[in-house]
Amino acid sequence: MPARRCLVTGAGRGIGAAVARRLSAEGHAVALVARTAAELEAVAAQLPGPSLVVPADLTNPGAADAAAGRVEREWGGPVEVLVLNAGVAVSAPLARTTDEDWARMLEVNLTAPFRLLRRVLPGMAEAGWGRVVAVASVAARRGDPYVAAYTASKHGLLGLVRSAAAEVAGRGVTVNAVCPGYVDTPMTDRTVAGISATTGRTPEQARDALARKQPIGRLVTPEEVADVVLLCVANAAVTGQGINVDGGAVQS
Ligand SMILES: NC(=O)c1ccc[n+]([C@@H]2O[C@H](COP(=O)([O-])OP(=O)(O)OC[C@H]3O[C@@H](n4cnc5c(N)ncnc54)[C@H](OP(=O)(O)O)[C@@H]3O)[C@@H](O)[C@H]2O)c1
Repeated sequence: MPARRCLVTGAGRGIGAAVARRLSAEGHAVALVARTAAELEAVAAQLPGPSLVVPADLTNPGAADAAAGRVEREWGGPVEVLVLNAGVAVSAPLARTTDEDWARMLEVNLTAPFRLLRRVLPGMAEAGWGRVVAVASVAARRGDPYVAAYTASKHGLLGLVRSAAAEVAGRGVTVNAVCPGYVDTPMTDRTVAGISATTGRTPEQARDALARKQPIGRLVTPEEVADVVLLCVANAAVTGQGINVDGGAVQS
Protein backbone atom coordinates (compact mmCIF):
# COMPACT_ATOMS: atom_id res chain seq x y z
CA MET A 1 0.00 0.00 0.00
CA PRO A 2 1.38 3.49 -0.79
CA ALA A 3 2.06 5.84 2.12
CA ARG A 4 -1.16 7.50 3.23
CA ARG A 5 -2.00 10.66 5.15
CA CYS A 6 -3.53 9.44 8.44
CA LEU A 7 -5.22 11.28 11.28
CA VAL A 8 -5.63 9.50 14.62
CA THR A 9 -7.66 11.09 17.44
CA GLY A 10 -6.85 10.30 21.05
CA ALA A 11 -3.32 9.44 19.93
CA GLY A 12 -1.58 10.55 23.14
CA ARG A 13 -1.84 7.24 24.99
CA GLY A 14 -3.58 3.86 25.11
CA ILE A 15 -5.20 2.49 21.96
CA GLY A 16 -4.68 5.64 19.86
CA ALA A 17 -0.93 5.68 20.54
CA ALA A 18 -0.70 1.98 19.57
CA VAL A 19 -2.60 2.65 16.33
CA ALA A 20 -0.31 5.60 15.51
CA ARG A 21 2.79 3.43 16.07
CA ARG A 22 1.43 0.67 13.79
CA LEU A 23 0.44 3.07 11.00
CA SER A 24 3.84 4.75 11.17
CA ALA A 25 5.65 1.38 11.17
CA GLU A 26 3.75 0.56 7.94
CA GLY A 27 5.23 3.69 6.36
CA HIS A 28 2.28 6.08 6.67
CA ALA A 29 2.34 9.75 7.75
CA VAL A 30 0.37 10.20 10.98
CA ALA A 31 -1.26 13.32 12.46
CA LEU A 32 -1.81 12.95 16.20
CA VAL A 33 -4.76 14.71 17.86
CA ALA A 34 -5.64 15.02 21.57
CA ARG A 35 -5.75 17.79 24.17
CA THR A 36 -2.45 17.03 25.95
CA ALA A 37 0.38 18.27 23.71
CA ALA A 38 3.11 16.71 25.86
CA GLU A 39 1.66 13.21 25.40
CA LEU A 40 1.37 13.73 21.63
CA GLU A 41 4.99 14.94 21.46
CA ALA A 42 6.12 11.81 23.35
CA VAL A 43 4.27 9.51 20.92
CA ALA A 44 5.54 11.47 17.88
CA ALA A 45 9.12 11.06 19.14
CA GLN A 46 8.72 7.24 18.97
CA LEU A 47 7.39 7.16 15.39
CA PRO A 48 9.75 6.09 12.60
CA GLY A 49 7.98 8.16 9.91
CA PRO A 50 6.53 11.64 9.38
CA SER A 51 4.13 12.91 12.04
CA LEU A 52 2.21 16.04 12.95
CA VAL A 53 1.29 17.02 16.50
CA VAL A 54 -2.15 18.67 16.49
CA PRO A 55 -3.27 19.55 20.04
CA ALA A 56 -7.04 20.11 20.08
CA ASP A 57 -10.12 19.63 22.22
CA LEU A 58 -12.43 17.82 19.80
CA THR A 59 -15.52 19.05 21.65
CA ASN A 60 -14.71 22.47 20.21
CA PRO A 61 -16.99 22.82 17.13
CA GLY A 62 -14.13 24.25 15.03
CA ALA A 63 -11.61 21.53 15.93
CA ALA A 64 -12.47 19.08 13.14
CA ASP A 65 -12.03 21.67 10.41
CA ALA A 66 -8.81 22.99 11.98
CA ALA A 67 -7.22 19.52 12.32
CA ALA A 68 -8.19 18.32 8.82
CA GLY A 69 -7.08 21.69 7.36
CA ARG A 70 -3.70 21.39 9.09
CA VAL A 71 -3.07 18.00 7.40
CA GLU A 72 -4.07 19.45 4.02
CA ARG A 73 -1.74 22.44 4.38
CA GLU A 74 1.26 20.57 5.80
CA TRP A 75 1.07 17.43 3.66
CA GLY A 76 -0.50 18.85 0.48
CA GLY A 77 -3.64 16.69 0.37
CA PRO A 78 -6.65 15.50 2.32
CA VAL A 79 -6.81 12.92 5.13
CA GLU A 80 -6.91 9.43 3.60
CA VAL A 81 -7.10 7.32 6.78
CA LEU A 82 -9.18 8.62 9.69
CA VAL A 83 -9.12 6.79 13.04
CA LEU A 84 -11.83 8.10 15.36
CA ASN A 85 -10.47 6.85 18.67
CA ALA A 86 -10.68 9.71 21.21
CA GLY A 87 -13.20 8.84 23.87
CA VAL A 88 -14.12 9.18 27.51
CA ALA A 89 -16.03 6.90 29.89
CA VAL A 90 -18.08 7.56 32.99
CA SER A 91 -19.75 5.04 35.26
CA ALA A 92 -22.85 5.71 37.37
CA PRO A 93 -26.26 4.16 37.97
CA LEU A 94 -28.70 5.59 35.44
CA ALA A 95 -30.68 7.42 38.14
CA ARG A 96 -27.51 9.25 39.24
CA THR A 97 -26.22 10.05 35.72
CA THR A 98 -26.05 13.86 35.53
CA ASP A 99 -26.98 16.01 32.53
CA GLU A 100 -23.31 17.06 32.41
CA ASP A 101 -22.02 13.47 32.20
CA TRP A 102 -24.65 12.58 29.58
CA ALA A 103 -23.73 15.62 27.46
CA ARG A 104 -19.98 14.97 27.77
CA MET A 105 -20.33 11.33 26.65
CA LEU A 106 -22.31 12.35 23.58
CA GLU A 107 -20.03 15.32 22.77
CA VAL A 108 -16.72 13.43 22.90
CA ASN A 109 -17.79 9.93 21.80
CA LEU A 110 -20.41 10.76 19.16
CA THR A 111 -20.62 14.43 18.10
CA ALA A 112 -16.84 14.89 17.71
CA PRO A 113 -16.52 11.77 15.46
CA PHE A 114 -19.54 12.98 13.47
CA ARG A 115 -17.92 16.39 12.84
CA LEU A 116 -14.61 14.89 11.71
CA LEU A 117 -16.35 12.35 9.48
CA ARG A 118 -18.50 15.10 7.94
CA ARG A 119 -15.36 17.14 7.24
CA VAL A 120 -13.21 14.32 5.82
CA LEU A 121 -15.57 11.92 4.03
CA PRO A 122 -16.27 14.10 0.92
CA GLY A 123 -12.52 14.34 0.16
CA MET A 124 -12.16 10.57 0.42
CA ALA A 125 -15.15 9.96 -1.86
CA GLU A 126 -13.83 12.49 -4.39
CA ALA A 127 -10.39 10.83 -4.37
CA GLY A 128 -11.98 7.38 -4.77
CA TRP A 129 -10.09 5.93 -1.80
CA GLY A 130 -10.44 6.32 1.95
CA ARG A 131 -10.53 4.42 5.22
CA VAL A 132 -12.38 5.36 8.38
CA VAL A 133 -12.10 3.27 11.54
CA ALA A 134 -13.97 4.27 14.69
CA VAL A 135 -12.94 2.79 18.02
CA ALA A 136 -16.33 2.00 19.56
CA SER A 137 -16.66 -0.65 22.31
CA VAL A 138 -18.49 -3.81 23.26
CA ALA A 139 -20.76 -1.16 24.78
CA ALA A 140 -21.88 -0.59 21.16
CA ARG A 141 -23.04 -4.23 21.05
CA ARG A 142 -24.80 -4.76 24.37
CA GLY A 143 -25.97 -2.96 27.52
CA ASP A 144 -24.28 -3.43 30.87
CA PRO A 145 -25.34 -1.79 34.14
CA TYR A 146 -23.98 1.60 35.28
CA VAL A 147 -22.76 2.75 31.85
CA ALA A 148 -25.97 4.06 30.24
CA ALA A 149 -24.50 7.33 28.88
CA TYR A 150 -21.32 5.68 27.56
CA THR A 151 -23.35 2.82 26.05
CA ALA A 152 -25.78 5.21 24.35
CA SER A 153 -22.86 7.17 22.85
CA LYS A 154 -21.12 4.02 21.56
CA HIS A 155 -24.34 2.56 20.10
CA GLY A 156 -24.75 5.92 18.36
CA LEU A 157 -21.19 5.77 17.03
CA LEU A 158 -21.80 2.31 15.50
CA GLY A 159 -24.99 3.66 13.88
CA LEU A 160 -23.02 6.57 12.44
CA VAL A 161 -20.42 4.14 11.05
CA ARG A 162 -23.04 1.90 9.43
CA SER A 163 -24.89 4.76 7.76
CA ALA A 164 -21.70 6.46 6.53
CA ALA A 165 -20.43 3.13 5.14
CA ALA A 166 -23.64 2.65 3.17
CA GLU A 167 -23.37 6.18 1.78
CA VAL A 168 -19.84 5.81 0.35
CA ALA A 169 -19.65 2.05 -0.37
CA GLY A 170 -19.44 2.57 -4.12
CA ARG A 171 -16.73 5.24 -3.89
CA GLY A 172 -13.71 3.24 -2.71
CA VAL A 173 -14.19 4.31 0.90
CA THR A 174 -14.75 1.90 3.80
CA VAL A 175 -16.08 2.86 7.23
CA ASN A 176 -15.84 0.38 10.11
CA ALA A 177 -15.81 0.19 13.88
CA VAL A 178 -13.68 -1.92 16.17
CA CYS A 179 -15.42 -2.86 19.42
CA PRO A 180 -12.92 -3.60 22.19
CA GLY A 181 -13.63 -5.22 25.53
CA TYR A 182 -11.46 -4.21 28.50
CA VAL A 183 -8.09 -3.04 27.15
CA ASP A 184 -4.96 -2.44 29.23
CA THR A 185 -4.85 1.38 28.97
CA PRO A 186 -5.01 4.42 31.26
CA MET A 187 -8.82 4.43 30.77
CA THR A 188 -9.02 0.95 32.31
CA ASP A 189 -6.63 2.06 35.09
CA ARG A 190 -9.25 4.70 35.98
CA THR A 191 -12.03 2.05 35.87
CA VAL A 192 -9.95 -0.13 38.21
CA ALA A 193 -9.42 2.80 40.60
CA GLY A 194 -13.18 3.50 40.56
CA ILE A 195 -14.09 -0.13 41.35
CA SER A 196 -11.47 -0.20 44.06
CA ALA A 197 -12.82 3.00 45.65
CA THR A 198 -16.48 1.90 45.59
CA THR A 199 -16.05 -1.77 46.57
CA GLY A 200 -13.00 -1.73 48.87
CA ARG A 201 -11.28 -4.37 46.68
CA THR A 202 -7.57 -3.94 46.02
CA PRO A 203 -6.61 -2.62 42.57
CA GLU A 204 -5.24 -6.09 41.73
CA GLN A 205 -8.56 -7.73 42.67
CA ALA A 206 -10.50 -5.14 40.65
CA ARG A 207 -8.23 -5.65 37.60
CA ASP A 208 -8.58 -9.45 37.91
CA ALA A 209 -12.37 -9.12 38.02
CA LEU A 210 -12.31 -7.18 34.71
CA ALA A 211 -9.92 -9.72 33.16
CA ARG A 212 -12.21 -12.60 34.18
CA LYS A 213 -15.19 -10.94 32.45
CA GLN A 214 -13.46 -11.87 29.16
CA PRO A 215 -13.32 -15.55 28.17
CA ILE A 216 -9.60 -15.25 27.33
CA GLY A 217 -9.09 -14.46 31.03
CA ARG A 218 -7.02 -11.31 30.55
CA LEU A 219 -7.24 -7.73 29.35
CA VAL A 220 -6.90 -7.10 25.61
CA THR A 221 -3.67 -5.27 24.68
CA PRO A 222 -3.74 -1.93 22.79
CA GLU A 223 -1.63 -3.63 20.09
CA GLU A 224 -4.32 -6.29 19.58
CA VAL A 225 -6.86 -3.53 18.93
CA ALA A 226 -4.39 -1.74 16.62
CA ASP A 227 -3.98 -5.00 14.61
CA VAL A 228 -7.69 -4.98 13.77
CA VAL A 229 -7.66 -1.26 12.92
CA LEU A 230 -4.81 -1.99 10.47
CA LEU A 231 -6.82 -4.86 8.97
CA CYS A 232 -9.69 -2.43 8.30
CA VAL A 233 -7.21 -0.06 6.62
CA ALA A 234 -5.76 -2.82 4.43
CA ASN A 235 -9.02 -4.48 3.37
CA ALA A 236 -11.39 -3.00 0.76
CA ALA A 237 -14.29 -5.45 1.18
CA VAL A 238 -15.01 -5.08 4.89
CA THR A 239 -17.28 -2.05 5.40
CA GLY A 240 -20.13 -1.06 7.69
CA GLN A 241 -18.97 -3.58 10.29
CA GLY A 242 -18.40 -3.52 14.01
CA ILE A 243 -15.59 -5.98 14.75
CA ASN A 244 -15.39 -7.19 18.36
CA VAL A 245 -11.89 -7.32 19.89
CA ASP A 246 -13.00 -8.46 23.29
CA GLY A 247 -11.48 -11.83 24.11
CA GLY A 248 -14.70 -13.60 23.21
CA ALA A 249 -17.03 -11.63 25.49
CA VAL A 250 -19.68 -10.88 22.84
CA GLN A 251 -20.38 -13.42 20.10
CA SER A 252 -22.07 -11.79 17.12
N1 LIG B 1 -9.73 0.94 27.55
C1 LIG B 1 -10.77 0.16 27.32
O1 LIG B 1 -10.98 -0.85 28.01
C2 LIG B 1 -11.69 0.45 26.17
C3 LIG B 1 -12.68 -0.50 25.87
C4 LIG B 1 -13.56 -0.28 24.82
C5 LIG B 1 -13.46 0.90 24.10
N2 LIG B 1 -12.50 1.81 24.40
C6 LIG B 1 -12.46 3.04 23.61
O2 LIG B 1 -11.19 3.17 23.02
C7 LIG B 1 -10.88 4.55 22.83
C8 LIG B 1 -9.50 4.84 23.42
O3 LIG B 1 -9.54 4.47 24.79
P1 LIG B 1 -8.24 4.31 25.69
O4 LIG B 1 -8.52 3.21 26.63
O5 LIG B 1 -7.01 4.31 24.87
O6 LIG B 1 -8.40 5.70 26.52
P2 LIG B 1 -7.32 6.68 27.19
O7 LIG B 1 -6.14 5.89 27.56
O8 LIG B 1 -8.04 7.44 28.23
O9 LIG B 1 -6.99 7.65 25.95
C9 LIG B 1 -8.00 8.47 25.42
C10 LIG B 1 -7.42 9.43 24.41
O10 LIG B 1 -8.50 10.30 23.95
C11 LIG B 1 -8.08 11.66 24.11
N3 LIG B 1 -9.22 12.54 24.36
C12 LIG B 1 -10.14 12.45 25.36
N4 LIG B 1 -10.99 13.48 25.30
C13 LIG B 1 -10.61 14.25 24.25
C14 LIG B 1 -11.09 15.47 23.69
N5 LIG B 1 -12.13 16.13 24.21
N6 LIG B 1 -10.45 15.97 22.60
C15 LIG B 1 -9.39 15.33 22.08
N7 LIG B 1 -8.90 14.18 22.56
C16 LIG B 1 -9.50 13.64 23.64
C17 LIG B 1 -7.12 11.60 25.30
O11 LIG B 1 -6.22 12.67 25.34
P3 LIG B 1 -6.45 14.01 26.22
O12 LIG B 1 -7.06 13.60 27.53
O13 LIG B 1 -5.06 14.56 26.31
O14 LIG B 1 -7.35 14.86 25.39
C18 LIG B 1 -6.35 10.31 25.00
O15 LIG B 1 -5.32 10.56 24.06
C19 LIG B 1 -12.02 5.33 23.49
O16 LIG B 1 -12.93 5.75 22.51
C20 LIG B 1 -12.65 4.31 24.41
O17 LIG B 1 -14.02 4.58 24.65
C21 LIG B 1 -11.61 1.62 25.43
